[in-house]
Amino acid sequence: MGQHLSRTVAEGRAFMQLINGQPADALSGERIDVVSPSDGKVFASIPAAGAADIDRAVKSSREAFENGPWSRMPAFERGRLLTRLGLLIEKNGDELAALESRDTGKPIRQGKADVTSTMRYYEFYGGAADKIHGDTIPFLDGYTALTLREPHGVVAGIIPWNYPMQILARVAGAAFAMGNTLVVKPAEDASLTTIRIAELALEAGFPEGVFNVVTGYGRDAGAALSAHRDIDYVTFTGSTMTGTAIQQAAAINNRGVTMELGGKSPQIVFADADIEKALPVLVNAIIQNGGQTCSAGSRVLIEKPIYEAVSTELAARFGKLVAAPHDADGDLGPMVNKKQQGQVKSFIAAAEEAGVSVLARGSVDPSAPQNGFYVAPALFGSVDPKANIAQQEVFGPVLSLFAFEGEEEAVRLANSTDYGLVAGVWTKDGARQHRVAKKVRAGQVFVNGYGAGGGIELPFGGFKKSGHGREKGFEALYDMSATKTIVFNHG
Ligand code: NAI
Ligand code: MG
Repeated sequence: MGQHLSRTVAEGRAFMQLINGQPADALSGERIDVVSPSDGKVFASIPAAGAADIDRAVKSSREAFENGPWSRMPAFERGRLLTRLGLLIEKNGDELAALESRDTGKPIRQGKADVTSTMRYYEFYGGAADKIHGDTIPFLDGYTALTLREPHGVVAGIIPWNYPMQILARVAGAAFAMGNTLVVKPAEDASLTTIRIAELALEAGFPEGVFNVVTGYGRDAGAALSAHRDIDYVTFTGSTMTGTAIQQAAAINNRGVTMELGGKSPQIVFADADIEKALPVLVNAIIQNGGQTCSAGSRVLIEKPIYEAVSTELAARFGKLVAAPHDADGDLGPMVNKKQQGQVKSFIAAAEEAGVSVLARGSVDPSAPQNGFYVAPALFGSVDPKANIAQQEVFGPVLSLFAFEGEEEAVRLANSTDYGLVAGVWTKDGARQHRVAKKVRAGQVFVNGYGAGGGIELPFGGFKKSGHGREKGFEALYDMSATKTIVFNHG
C-alpha cells in the first residue's frame, strides 16, 4: 500500500490555496504545474498567486489578528490547538509523508522522518505557548515596571522546498504559540504539504484567517508578500541572494526579519577521533535529502596523520551510494527540479575541469526514469580551500575533503567561508572539544555527532551570511514576539 499510495497520491489534483478558511484559486486563474522530480512528469497543479491574492490573504490575517476569536484566546488554548494539529499530523502521517516525498523527490523514509519532526514541533510549541512570559523589573522608588511579550501581529512566512513541512512547522509553531497570525507562501516546487497542513489546522479548530496559505512564484507572490505594508514581521528560509532581496523589501516598511540562509558547514576530524563512529555520520550529513539541506556537512577537514585512511574509507562508502526514485527509497532521491540538477552537475563538472581530484562517484539507479533529476554523488579530495567548490553552497550530494595540521589551522579552515551555520568537531580530547566549539563561528556546533540542523528544542540559525535571528526551541518564541515595557507610577 505504501508504495502504491506514494505513486498515486494527489494524481491529477488541482490544489487550492487556503484563504480565510476557504479553498481559493488565484484571482487570475493562473496555475503552476506540479512536477515529480523522480520522473519529470506533471501530476497536479497549484494556483499562481499575484499581488491581489496576497492582499486578500493579508487582509484576512489582519482581521483574524485584530478582531477574531484568536485575538481573545488565552495562551493555553492556542497551545491546545497546536497540540491537536500535531496529533492530526501524526494521524495523517502516511499521507503527508507520501505527498512530501512525491513533491520533492526525497526518499519516502525521509518523508516519514519529516512527519515525525513536524509533529514534534507542534507538540513542543503547543506545550510552550503558556510557559513563556515577561519580567518585573526593579526600578525607581514609587514605580513598578514590567514587560509583556506581545505578538508582532501578521507574520509572513516564506518557505523553501527542501524541508517544506518541517520548516513550516518551526515557523508556524512559534508564531502561533505567541499569538501571531500567519500568511505562508511555500515554494513553487513544493507547496502540497503546506496546503494539507493548513486544512488540518482548520480541522483542529484554528479560527479562519489565522493560517492563510498563498501559492505562487517567488518573484510574484513572494515579492508581493515581503513588501506588503500590512505585514508586521517576515521570516524566510532559503538562498542568501533571495534573503537579501526579502530584507530589502521588508525594509520599505522597516519590518523585522528572521533570515535562515545558506551554509558551507565543516566537520573537523582530529587524529584521536572515533573514526568508526564518525564515518557514517560524515556521509549522512551530506547525503541526507540529497545534500539539499542548509546545514549539510559539505566540508570535512581531516588531520593529516589520518587523512589517507579516512579519505579511503569515505571513498569506499561514496562509491556505493545510489540515487533512486523517491518511492524506491534509495540512499538519496533526485534533486528537486531541473535547475537544481543543472546547478549541482555544473559545480561537479567545473571542479573536475579545474583539476580537483575526484575520489569517488556514486551512481544513479539504472532503472530510474530517464527524465528524473538525478545526480550521482561526488567526493572531492585534497581540495584547495580557496576553490569554488570549497567556498560556494552546492546544495547537492557533493562533499569536499581538506587536510589540516593542528588545531589552529583546523579552526582557520572551518571559519574560512562566508557562512556560519553548523559545525561538527570529532575528538576525544575534552579540553579541545570546548576550545574548538567556542572558536568555530557557527550557530550550532555538534561534538562527536552531527545534527544537520536537527533537534526541535535546539536554537538554530546563522552567523555571517548564514543569516540572523534564531528558530527552534524557546529562542524562536522571542523572535516571534516583541517586548512591551509598562511602567506604573504609584508614588
Ligand atoms: P530561493 O531562496 O529563491 O527560494 C526560497 C523561497 O523564496 C521560495 O518560496 C521562493 O518562491 C521564494 N522567493 C524567491 N524569490 C523571492 C523574492 N524575490 N521575494 C520573495 N520570495 C522569493 O531558492 P531557489 O531559487 O529555489 O534555490 C536556489 C538555491 O537556494 C539553491 O540551490 C540553494 O543553494 C539555496 N536554497 C537554500 C535553502 C536553505 O534551506 N537554506 C533552501 C532552498 C534553496
Ligand atoms: Mg514538486
